Amino acid sequence: MINKLFRKKSVDQILKDSQEGSGLAKVLGVKDLVSLGIAAIVGAGIFSTIGLASFEGGPAISLLFIFVAFACVFTALAYAQFASTVPVSGSAYTYAYVAFGELFAWIIGWALVLEYAVSNTVVAISWSQYFVSMLEGFGIMLPKWLTMAPGYALDAHAKFLSDGMAAMNVADKVGLEAYMTAPRIGDIPIIFDFPAGLVTLLVTWLVYIGIKESQRASNIMVMIKVGIIILVVVGGVFFIAPENWTPFAPNGLRGVMGSVAAVFFAFIGFDSISTTAEECKNPQRDLPRAMIICLIICTVLYVAITLVLTGMVNYTELNVKDPLAFVFKYVGFDHMAGIVSVTSVIAITSALLVYQLAQPRIWMTMSRDGLLSKRFARIHPKYRTPSYATIVTGIVVAIPSLFFKMDFFVDLTSVGTFFAFILVCAGVLYMDHVGLSAKSKFKVPYINGKYIIGAGFVLAWVLVYNYAQGAIEEWRSLSFAEVIEHKSLVLVFWFSWVLLAVLGFKHNFSLLPVIGILINLYLMSELGASNWIIFILWLAIGLIIYFAYGYRHSKLNKITAS
Ligand code: ALA
Repeated sequence: MINKLFRKKSVDQILKDSQEGSGLAKVLGVKDLVSLGIAAIVGAGIFSTIGLASFEGGPAISLLFIFVAFACVFTALAYAQFASTVPVSGSAYTYAYVAFGELFAWIIGWALVLEYAVSNTVVAISWSQYFVSMLEGFGIMLPKWLTMAPGYALDAHAKFLSDGMAAMNVADKVGLEAYMTAPRIGDIPIIFDFPAGLVTLLVTWLVYIGIKESQRASNIMVMIKVGIIILVVVGGVFFIAPENWTPFAPNGLRGVMGSVAAVFFAFIGFDSISTTAEECKNPQRDLPRAMIICLIICTVLYVAITLVLTGMVNYTELNVKDPLAFVFKYVGFDHMAGIVSVTSVIAITSALLVYQLAQPRIWMTMSRDGLLSKRFARIHPKYRTPSYATIVTGIVVAIPSLFFKMDFFVDLTSVGTFFAFILVCAGVLYMDHVGLSAKSKFKVPYINGKYIIGAGFVLAWVLVYNYAQGAIEEWRSLSFAEVIEHKSLVLVFWFSWVLLAVLGFKHNFSLLPVIGILINLYLMSELGASNWIIFILWLAIGLIIYFAYGYRHSKLNKITAS
């Protein structure tokens, strides 16, 4: 049984499978890859979730963007090594199939649903906010109860009852209006985000009938995306009131780290270009370069935009879902707000399209391996698209986008993606261990971590001891049960570091993937226990599906059995 769970695909087998496949044209160079990367990365994160992050952490969120970018750089190197070894399109799912075997491959594929489908729910909600803002610019007012998840309206109403009107900011007032004006069935107000659901269905339909973003269309969209961010930065600079930057971190380190999910969300997607390895002219040279260039460009844009937003209005006003347009409305520059809304709607549509295209294709790969029902690999006879998988993706994204708050999905997406990133970094250590790295055309630069990982651990403790006395006092005041209840994620982080130090000493682990694992795990530990619990439940559901279906139907099962 154990052997079956960890049965692996061999690199040679995967390469053979892919050669038998479509024989894709090798046309993509660094520029194209950067463009594709930015198309996937720049979306709801910078257009929406940055608002809530700034609201919680203040201007200091700009520094968090830099820190999170580092985690992504180490992970990008690991992705690049895999992509150059297994240059096929299943992403981390395929890599795990090679490195860790089927069970892990399934788990990663299941976690990728969070990165692609669930994240797109956030993108749809973000689209809706800019769309509503755009319509308002044209004087068209949709009823508020048709434009948001019920949770926002209920929260605003509760805040009104407890703190009164004086405590409400602009977003709260909109929520309250939705609550007050909503039609009711009995006592229950009917409130949902109609534009978010509708746009998801429309985009799904486009994807279904096979309107793929051509490289050219994608380039134009990317130019619009980057152009609009530069426009906001340049236009916004004139409205910055430097006093808004003080205090820089109004809620301290807690406030800043509380936004890890939102900030990380904004970077998600750089890994998606690894799926184009088969179509790259020179994947081993261009993929790592392109990923790093994407990350640098996005980090610069994100830091600039955070400073501008928090400089233009006080951070306390920023818990809106259309902050880029909102700040200009706020300072009375309505024309600019209008331009930003219209172009944002176009830019976010492209992000929606990218993920709505990617998710069905991952399911298709999993289905071809026998881990999902054959229906997921069904190709539409006329449109040549994975029709069933596309429809399921549409439903999975559209329905939650009508009723759920964005923050919930941001957290869930981030936790799942950190998990996938950690496994990809760990996969590189495994490849080194079994000698697979010898087949990699691009290798994560090797620095022997034999002593450094352990020495880093000791150094970290010296620093904590000398500079974080407050945290130590807090730990001392907790009982054992309280430590388990409130600090278990931090314990997981430190224990993992010890484990890596020991294994690293024994096997001469490569340092950079280890740093990737540790930074990702540290950031993941900041996401809070409730998110981990939801994620563990998600994994449990995935495992039930695997054992009920994939375990028996896997193609490798047939090969082993025959
Ligand atoms: N990074 C992607 C976005 O912000 C997921 O929409």
